[in-house]
Amino acid sequence: MSNREDDDPFALAPDDIHVWLSWLDVPRERIKDLTAYLSPDELDRADRLRFEADRRRFVAARGILRELCCNHTGTPPEQIRFTADDHGKPRLADLPPGLDLCFNVSHSGAAAAYAFALGAEVGIDIEAPRPDFDDAQIEASLLPPDLIARLLDAPKSIRQEAFLEEWTAREALAKATGLGMAHYLAGGVDPADEVGWQSWDLPKVRGYVGTLVMPAGKWYVSCRQWGA
Ligand SMILES: CC(C)(COP(=O)(O)OP(=O)(O)OC[C@H]1O[C@@H](n2cnc3c(N)ncnc32)[C@H](O)[C@@H]1OP(=O)(O)O)[C@@H](O)C(=O)NCCC(=O)NCCS
Repeated sequence: MSNREDDDPFALAPDDIHVWLSWLDVPRERIKDLTAYLSPDELDRADRLRFEADRRRFVAARGILRELCCNHTGTPPEQIRFTADDHGKPRLADLPPGLDLCFNVSHSGAAAAYAFALGAEVGIDIEAPRPDFDDAQIEASLLPPDLIARLLDAPKSIRQEAFLEEWTAREALAKATGLGMAHYLAGGVDPADEVGWQSWDLPKVRGYVGTLVMPAGKWYVSCRQWGA
């Protein structure tokens, strides 16, 4: 795996995986623009969120996803349509012929992470650090018991980060394979043992921890910030 940082950010070669990171607490004017891209279903989902901050972050995450998809497909953001596969994984509908664009999204707290690839299943997960993090969250996590014990033994200064690394590795794999989180939690499957898949740690920014999972092989992974 290596980087191809200088290229056109939306020129996706068959061996490229593009990761975009975005902050979701954007100015009100920007929220207005992003809201205009959303479908009635998405607006309805936003409306059902109780807190204004969560509504704004949801709108930002979906609106930015639409902007990124527009850059890859040429379809205007408000005309992008999503569908889902048998596992509930979102897909792009109405793709131009020959463009097998795959994507996955994760959002947590004030950040979102997006992964794009051609004809390759990708899974991405990002988790925000919690100021109130404590050992009880590790104990209640449903990770395999031996891993929980190891995490509880880790130095306190790195314990939350170590926990989030393990957690996001499993979530990202579940989102790539479609096998579901239960398989990678108490099921005891170690992501490192999952044949046919490999993972890449997202750069750690402001304590956010994330993992990208992609099929085993040689990939050029680039990671950029959207709307910086
Ligand atoms: C799907 C799931 C992995 C999402 O994880 P999460 O940490 O709650 O949330 P994230 O922000 O990381 O990901 C949410 C995004 O994942 C994507 N997503 C939803 N279902 C998905 C699936 N089955 N596979 C991959 N990605 C999925 C969507 O884009 C979603 O964005 P949205 O909330 O704006 O609609 C989680 O809800 C889950 O485990 N659900 C149980 C059902 C299950 O296990 N399904 C099997 C496939 S993972």
